[in-house]
Amino acid sequence: MARNSSKIYAVFGNPVGHSLSPIMHNAAFKRMKIDAHYVPFCVKSVEDAVRGIRGLDIRGVSVTIPFKTTVMPYLDEVDESSLRIGAVNTILNDGNGRLKGFNTDWIGLNRDLEESLEIRGKTFAILGAGGAARAAVFGILKEGGIPVIFNRTTETGEEVAREFGCPFYSLSEIEKIKADCLINTTSVGMAPDIEKSPLMKESLINFRWVVDIIYNPLKTKLLREAEEAGCTVLDGVGMFVHQGAEQTKIWMEMEPPRALMRGVVLESLKEHDGN
Ligand code: ATR
Repeated sequence: MARNSSKIYAVFGNPVGHSLSPIMHNAAFKRMKIDAHYVPFCVKSVEDAVRGIRGLDIRGVSVTIPFKTTVMPYLDEVDESSLRIGAVNTILNDGNGRLKGFNTDWIGLNRDLEESLEIRGKTFAILGAGGAARAAVFGILKEGGIPVIFNRTTETGEEVAREFGCPFYSLSEIEKIKADCLINTTSVGMAPDIEKSPLMKESLINFRWVVDIIYNPLKTKLLREAEEAGCTVLDGVGMFVHQGAEQTKIWMEMEPPRALMRGVVLESLKEHDGN
């Protein structure tokens, strides 16, 4: 057992080279005066990687694409929200090698939304039906909002809609629907495909708020067009920072410096843009 040495935290993904989590978490640890290091691992086998958490006494792990679902069977326990969403983005090692999985994506999105609007009673058009969409639907329902799912593929969209008890429409029908807020959970518009948008510009007048969970680029084509249509827009940095801050709370039982984390992420994204 490691004694008198820095605690290690990690992110498991593949690819993981562009992850901003190490910069964000290390900045938070430093400000919080915690003797810990956060390192990225490009994972080849998720089963072996989870064994490595115990073997190396890694205290906490962020899990990202493509392992959020496949990691689940290798953990000792997962919390109820992760089970419902079907994805884990956070692992806590209790120090004795017992690993518990959590999902902070939905909390991150809810916190970000609630800085701009009250979720309760509002309708949310959710674009997509993958893991990120499931986290969004779960969080919105939990807070008393009304999600409506739109997806390119009917089968997956209907499956998520059935599971969470909400309506489903094909993405091609979106211009017929009015909602308070639109949330894009698909990867359409993410770098390098920055000239793509999941929606026709004309549909955007049906929404007051438009949220893109993509943070690279900061201003996606969807958000640029939404601004032109008079919508209030939210980029993906808020959700990213809050989901990370909620991970710190799980690992350290301390409130992390969210403003500092946000600043570090924004700075790093701007540097990236300039290259
Ligand atoms: P994640 O777990 O990050 O949410 P995912 O499970 O791969 O990622 O889900 C991606 C979502 O984006 C899916 O809903 C996908 O739609 P399909 O079910 O039709 O595949 C959606 N998506 C990806 N590319 C898309 C595109 N070009 N147009 C519309 N939707 C797209």
